[in-house]
Amino acid sequence: MRKLALVFLLISIFSCKKEIPKKIIIVERKRVNQSEMAALMLKMYDKNLENKTLVLQGKEPKDFPKEFLNIHTAQLTDPSNRNPAFKMFSNFYLNSFKKVFTTSKDSLILKHNNAVNSCIACHETTCVGPIPRIKKLLIK
Ligand code: HEC
Repeated sequence: MRKLALVFLLISIFSCKKEIPKKIIIVERKRVNQSEMAALMLKMYDKNLENKTLVLQGKEPKDFPKEFLNIHTAQLTDPSNRNPAFKMFSNFYLNSFKKVFTTSKDSLILKHNNAVNSCIACHETTCVGPIPRIKKLLIK
């Protein structure tokens, strides 16, 4: 039972919905039918975590993942999110993220943090739930 409670707690922390799940079964089903965008976001999260580790080791991230351009087309849980502002935030994010792969070594931390802050900028307008988790990607 405690294990189960932990799972529900994690679901409520990591999902976009702010409210604690009333009907846990529905929440669980939603996680199973994860949207293309949610799946892409998790990959972006992992990549930025990998970059953070590299930068802290003084290494340069290589190969911008072209798959992330799918932010413009991936199916969303709530398709009405894709409005002109969302498009603008998507481009802002992609441009900041690309700079991580082209910058000189001494501005890597700055460029990495800019990219993470551009994740947060969009999340403040669409999906505030994961923001505390995204902030962990910043290099202090
Ligand atoms: C243009 C807006 C936008 C940008 C930029 C953006 N996100 Fe998201 N993110 C969203 C939206 C909208 C969702 C909800 C997706 C859905 O449920 O279909 C989401 C969902 C997530 C989730 C939750 C996924 C899940 O488990 O359901 C995480 C984690 C996340 N984003 C991390 C990031 C990270 C890390 C970045 C930057 C590398 C980023 N996001 C950039 C809009 C954005």
